[in-house]
Amino acid sequence: MEKVVNLCKRRGFIFPSAEIYGGFRSTYDYGPLGVLMLRNVKGQWWRSMVQLRDDVVGIDAAILSSPRIWEASGHLATFTDPLVDCRRCKERWRADEIGDTCPNCGSHDLTEARAFNLMFKTFVGPVEDDASAAYLRPETAQGMFVNFLNVLQTSRKRPPFGIAQIGKSFRNEITPGNFVFRTREFEQMELEFFVPPDEGPKWLDYWCTERLNWYRDLGIADDKLRLRAHSPEELSHYSKGTYDVEFAFPWGWGELEGIANRTDYDLNAHSVQSGQRLEYFDQGSGERYVPHVIEPAAGATRAMMAFLLAAYDEDVVSGEKRTVLRLDQRLAPYQVAVLPLSRNESLRPLAREVLHLLQPHWMCDYDETQAIGRRYRRQDEIGTPWCVTVDFDSLEDRAVTIRERDSTEQVRVAVGALVDELGSRLS
Ligand code: GAP
Repeated sequence: MEKVVNLCKRRGFIFPSAEIYGGFRSTYDYGPLGVLMLRNVKGQWWRSMVQLRDDVVGIDAAILSSPRIWEASGHLATFTDPLVDCRRCKERWRADEIGDTCPNCGSHDLTEARAFNLMFKTFVGPVEDDASAAYLRPETAQGMFVNFLNVLQTSRKRPPFGIAQIGKSFRNEITPGNFVFRTREFEQMELEFFVPPDEGPKWLDYWCTERLNWYRDLGIADDKLRLRAHSPEELSHYSKGTYDVEFAFPWGWGELEGIANRTDYDLNAHSVQSGQRLEYFDQGSGERYVPHVIEPAAGATRAMMAFLLAAYDEDVVSGEKRTVLRLDQRLAPYQVAVLPLSRNESLRPLAREVLHLLQPHWMCDYDETQAIGRRYRRQDEIGTPWCVTVDFDSLEDRAVTIRERDSTEQVRVAVGALVDELGSRLS
């Protein structure tokens, strides 16, 4: 864990936010490599959940949202954690995490637990009163429910069909921590899949399999993944059945994604609150019903952390220890690094030509500092699957060396064939 956190800081994946001011309460900024990798995680989710399907459409709803949404969804009343204060050292804790002893000073003199709402409240406009209150969304899901009719009418979909969304959510977590595992600002990737009421259990099974396979396909080994059913006490207020996709984090199993059968809870709740009938009318059969919802809800930032942890490796190459991120090439920040053998001026024009040849196809890094061996190590450490080296022979034969990250094997390829060659290896 510590090695990955260090690597993230040192190489520009993830920085503590406002670091020059001493940091800001478990918030993080994504650096030049982190932003590329996070985009890739989200891109792969969108590809599998939207692009490759004809029964899912996307939306991008507002982050600032009406209190009426959260009244209907139950978040204003029940999206709370039980909070206790230690009377001796004044630390504040989640009651369900500590039992009857303060982890800081060992005192048993704790206040009664009280419900603490996790939503961030703000005010829209110049007046700070109840009428101008708004909330930063604590989940992207409600944006899909309140747009159910809009999407139904404009997309011409019929159940089973889904609405997908990726975006930021905010929760005033009492105990953020474990790096970006639990933060107050994070990104979610959620699908609300609307199905005929009697098909709920079938689609819950379907999405559990699909989602587990998504993590596997992107490189997380089977022994680091599991599906765990929620016990009845654990279920959220809206759920009739939930499974968590869990990852073996360094501190133990932790949730990557929840897959819930939300039944007709949300559409009914918003129908009551808004006075609009959120239901589906089947013109063929004349049947009218409120669809049930299966919801695979993943965290993009949390998934990125799991992919980094799963990819981290150390091995020995030519008698030298190296750190290597064995990231799937679809998730790696750069797919290719172009490296002139040295800083010699004569290599630069061809190296730049090769870079410009590859840039329209892949995210490329270009680096001419330091000895070539050290530059290979740098690329291994950030997970770049392919390095392309331009050397002095290249000036004569217009061929370059391509080097594979995991095996470190090298092959000579003509510049004219480079795009096809890398294309077949990166496909
Ligand atoms: N709409 C349902 C929902 O939001 P959730 O289990 O509370 O369900 C879904 O959240 C996913 O969002 C989690 O599995 C996790 O990956 C991510 N997530 C939730 N809270 C988070 C936090 N404080 N920091 C980072 N990721 C978080």
